[in-house]
Amino acid sequence: MCGIVGYTGGRQAAPVVLDGLAKLEYRGYDSAGVAVSDGDGNIDIKKAKGKLKILFDLTDGGKSFNGTCGIGHTRWATHGEPSQNNAHPHCNDEHTIVAVHNGIIENYSQLKDKLTRRGYTFYSDTDTEVATKLVDYYYKKHGEPLKAISEFALHARGSYALAVLFKDFPGEIFAIRKDSPMVIGVTDGGALLASDVPAILKYTRNVYYTDNHEIVLLSKDGVAFYNLDREEISKTPTLISWDAEAAEKGGWEHFMLKEIHEQPEVVRNTVNYFLHDGKLDLSELQLSEDYLKGVSSITITGCGSAYHVGVVGQYVIEDIARIPVRVEIASEFRYRKPVLGGNELVIVISQSGETADSLAALREMKQQGVKTLAIVNVLGSSIAREADGVFYTKAGPEISVATTKAYSAQLIAMYLIALKLAEVRGTVGAQQYSSFKRELTELPEKIAKVLETKSEVQKFASQMMDKKDVFFIGRGVDYAVSIESSLKLKEISYVHSEAYAAGELKHGTISLIENGTLVFGTLTQKALAEKTVSNLVETASRGAYVAVLASQSVEGIPENFKKVFHIPDTDEHFTASLAVVVMQLFAYYLSVLRGNDVDKPRNLAKSVTVE
Ligand code: AGP
Repeated sequence: MCGIVGYTGGRQAAPVVLDGLAKLEYRGYDSAGVAVSDGDGNIDIKKAKGKLKILFDLTDGGKSFNGTCGIGHTRWATHGEPSQNNAHPHCNDEHTIVAVHNGIIENYSQLKDKLTRRGYTFYSDTDTEVATKLVDYYYKKHGEPLKAISEFALHARGSYALAVLFKDFPGEIFAIRKDSPMVIGVTDGGALLASDVPAILKYTRNVYYTDNHEIVLLSKDGVAFYNLDREEISKTPTLISWDAEAAEKGGWEHFMLKEIHEQPEVVRNTVNYFLHDGKLDLSELQLSEDYLKGVSSITITGCGSAYHVGVVGQYVIEDIARIPVRVEIASEFRYRKPVLGGNELVIVISQSGETADSLAALREMKQQGVKTLAIVNVLGSSIAREADGVFYTKAGPEISVATTKAYSAQLIAMYLIALKLAEVRGTVGAQQYSSFKRELTELPEKIAKVLETKSEVQKFASQMMDKKDVFFIGRGVDYAVSIESSLKLKEISYVHSEAYAAGELKHGTISLIENGTLVFGTLTQKALAEKTVSNLVETASRGAYVAVLASQSVEGIPENFKKVFHIPDTDEHFTASLAVVVMQLFAYYLSVLRGNDVDKPRNLAKSVTVE
């Protein structure tokens, strides 16, 4: 995710901004830039592709700038590849309006067309340059920054934390946010803004959290907040008691818990990037619609949780797009001599894009001339570079070894690819297609709803402290949820667990069920729920402690089941996105209760680059 920083006050701005950007490096980026306005409002912009050090050296630690008001940005590329041209800050042609932005302007192409018709030209591929010129358009029209910013907000759709310098208003920064985070701080004789607390904690512990559509004016006298009608509003600052290290976790105890809670934003960003104004645009994947129409079969491969995403994808793509799909563990697939279809597409899923087995499987497929698509989270990673097409998930860097938000973003990739295949092959009707799209846009709020049950999950985890063996069972997508749930539990709590297709348990493994064995059933597939309930009853009759995770409207859950968690209803193809959140929290709290190093579990690495 991109990071923005701004400062105005009595100090030279560039060193403060660069220092703030350094505190946001954990968000991941591929380029960086700073703009500083001097006393006369002249704005100097310097930016560079690559790590912050390059910009730091280029500007002699910021000393090459002159001015006490500036903004800066670390860019995690969404629109347009990592390049000098696409790096922020962006400006209008006259260099009198300069902006930095974190987020995604969904309707940027329509806005770009509108501005082009009004004579604007563009030097970059970014939605941020469009946003900057939209502000310029309204500033030229109304001659007042607050009005220009509010008009921007009324016309731009999507997510943004936008900070703007106006030459006509030296020493002042105007900012606004919607869905992307932005914090504001007041320090002695100045004010700061940033995407996250770590960037300003050195200067102040009194932080204002801006709400959607609040406009902020920062000056050396402090800050003022306005609504879209430009009426001043008052806000109360929050005192930050965290230390610097905790601040990087946004005040969360662990990166894993922070990343679990970032899932609504990550899912929203990934959905909105590809699905906007009702249109699903996967052209970035470099796979033409004609090609997709002719795909005869699909193999999905990956390791660990990435493989588990593929299992969800198999159910969803086969059901929606009616194409044969198989899922292969990459470390096996790379050594098999698979018989591939005539027009086979191989999808390689990998958060890091560097997993050795997944990379080897990709290379094997390319050697055989098979078309390959990568679903990765890390820009420019090996798998991304070597695949024919790339679906970049918008999860931002994932620090915790146990994947959560990247897994959820990969699920969205599976859903969107399934929808695109169905669209080009005409396997779903218009009404059903619209319903799928609507459900996807509603997922972030539903995930947020599931997160509200975290204390219930935490309590359950404390009651399960003594469990030595845990079985997760389900059918269909619920089986795919079970295998991910089991892995999450094992890898961070070190409690032994197995996942089973519910119908398979009775073929041997049920002999392991003893009095008190925890069996956790997932019930989101209505047509299969009754059968899974029977399987759970079979375990209960052998003494199992049965817990259930069910969609709200699933009925027929026996009273004697010990614990029932409910999640909001959604289209049954997408329930894994909601169910997995409960299981992530369960694993997390059990790990914390057992005193484990949640973010860096024993024996594990974030990316397994060895075979
Ligand atoms: C998931 O929580 C684990 N950290 C692990 O299974 C991981 O999913 C696997 O190693 C694959 O990593 P990748 O997605 O980076 O390829």
